[in-house]
Amino acid sequence: MNLMTERLILRPWEDKDRIPMAGIYGDAHVRRFHPKVLTVEEANVKIDLAIERALTNGFDFQAAELKGSGEFIGMIGLAVLAEAVQAGLPSHRSVEIGWFLAKEHWGQGLAPEGARAWLDYAWSIGMPEVVAFTARENAPSQRVMEKIGMIYDPGSDYENPELGESHWLRPQVVYRKQNPNFFERRPIIGAR
Ligand SMILES: CC(C)(COP(=O)(O)OP(=O)(O)OC[C@H]1O[C@@H](n2cnc3c(N)ncnc32)[C@H](O)[C@@H]1OP(=O)(O)O)[C@@H](O)C(=O)NCCC(=O)NCCS
Repeated sequence: MNLMTERLILRPWEDKDRIPMAGIYGDAHVRRFHPKVLTVEEANVKIDLAIERALTNGFDFQAAELKGSGEFIGMIGLAVLAEAVQAGLPSHRSVEIGWFLAKEHWGQGLAPEGARAWLDYAWSIGMPEVVAFTARENAPSQRVMEKIGMIYDPGSDYENPELGESHWLRPQVVYRKQNPNFFERRPIIGAR
């Protein structure tokens, strides 16, 4: 899937993305709200999985690059939640939106810009809802969710079962956004 925004090209993975993406997943500051940094091998497994799932679903977490320079900045995309559900997380609706950018590119609204394009794509193919989840402590990611109009769903709060009882990253929050095209437009009866 190729998507374009004012400043970004969102496109399928290419081999040249592997080293910079492994750098992002291996950066302790970028992953300060995650239990650990990823090794190069683990980063490659994530990319391989995203490529495989895109073949099945037509979309997944994909590469993001700057339109002008072609510089790779990280990943933004949608993914079917099957593995999360299998891992014991609650079965919220089936598609999640996510982002992971190199820290040099933070603070310019690039994640929300790319995410909005992915939401438009989701609605265009008739997805009823997109969810996002993250550690309660991950305020920047929740800001992105808010900026793209997602709503916090306190009833879906859960604990990451992979982390110990008292781990500070164990509490997770869920945000949702429903397909705006699914709201029926009714004529206002009696309107003049
Ligand atoms: C979350 C993330 C994608 C935000 O992307 P972005 O393009 O910087 O988004 P924005 O520019 O809209 O900034 C969103 C929030 O990030 C925070 N932020 C922005 N620049 C920052 C910086 N340089 N350092 C720390 N936080 C920063 C702010 O809280 C900001 O909210 P504000 O605009 O109300 O001040 C980015 O911080 C990131 O890649 N984080 C690590 C990966 C991650 O946690 N992904 C989510 C996995 S669940």
